[in-house]
Amino acid sequence: MNSKTLEGQITYEQIVINKNLKYFKSSSLQNQKTFAAELQTSLNSTPKYISPKFFYDENGSNLFDEICSLPEYYPYDSEIEILKNIESGIKPYVDSDIRLVELGSGSSIKTRLLLNALYNIQKNVEYFPIDISDILSHSVQELCNIYNDLKITGLIDTYENGLNFIEHYDDKPNLISFLGSSFGNFNHDEGMKFLKTIHDMMKHSDFLLIGFDLKKDAVILHNAYNDSKGITAKFNLNVLNRINRELEADFDLTKFAHYAFYNELSSRIEMHLKSLQSQKIKIPGANITISLAKDELIHTENSYKFSISELESKFTKSGFEINEIWCDSNRYFALILAQKI
Ligand SMILES: C[S@@+](CC[C@H](N)C(=O)[O-])C[C@H]1O[C@@H](n2cnc3c(N)ncnc32)[C@H](O)[C@@H]1O
Repeated sequence: MNSKTLEGQITYEQIVINKNLKYFKSSSLQNQKTFAAELQTSLNSTPKYISPKFFYDENGSNLFDEICSLPEYYPYDSEIEILKNIESGIKPYVDSDIRLVELGSGSSIKTRLLLNALYNIQKNVEYFPIDISDILSHSVQELCNIYNDLKITGLIDTYENGLNFIEHYDDKPNLISFLGSSFGNFNHDEGMKFLKTIHDMMKHSDFLLIGFDLKKDAVILHNAYNDSKGITAKFNLNVLNRINRELEADFDLTKFAHYAFYNELSSRIEMHLKSLQSQKIKIPGANITISLAKDELIHTENSYKFSISELESKFTKSGFEINEIWCDSNRYFALILAQKI
């Protein structure tokens, strides 16, 4: 175990598991400080909000995997359908020596379809997952057990720090993937800024592969975020458990309800936690006490839905040339392959 400092800013602990597998992790003390500082701002705002990146402690990551297996959660099946045919789609573009980078890799299940495609296209395959959640340490181990010769270097950190890390890593071409419609968590300005950040760190030999959830019938959208087994509700409420555990807060989960709906005007699913009564919550780890009125909402996630023409415009405006747009048979979901102009 040793450490690496990037650009003199962040110090990463390097965990070497074997000759093919290592990952970097930023200090947990630093992460705790960031969590507390962000909550100080977001829970003192009007309206109150919690960034969706905090959903993914170990329990949150497992609950997200459960969501993916629900019949109502169409984005998973739709994206898998596209990825099953990805090999012939990417073959004309990818170099014989391209590295797969993945932003928000989670349990790396869908990734296996991309890895299989790359194994059929090139001799050696290298994977660089980036995820804010410690789930990365388990998912890379599982991949290592499946693909004996896969070279894996992971990074447990934010998308932005991960992109910075990759930019200064080496000259090898990268296929940068961002699956699971996570791009939809950004509002318009954040999304454009994110695309521009990726554009500016990319080399001309790199490719970008991003998943997008498309506009569709509002009932299908509503059901996907209000599943009959209540798993999405558990996932949403779990962020309060995390604040209780990591920052010694006293949220009583029985006094909150999951509230998700499609905001047609903004083309987004909004996910909130609704306070069922007027209450005060102490969060000693963030040095704050907050008051909530009955029915007051804490906004926890947006999930924007796009049309193909909106996506084409976003890519063009941020300096990309679209190579391919692949959709599933229902046209519920799109994967876009693009290159920097
Ligand atoms: C919706 S899940 C998608 C997982 C996987 N890519 C898939 O498609 O099934 C989002 C993943 O991104 C990670 N994540 C969320 N916000 C992040 C951030 N700001 N920086 C890095 N990872 C983040 C989460 O930990 C989680 O594993």
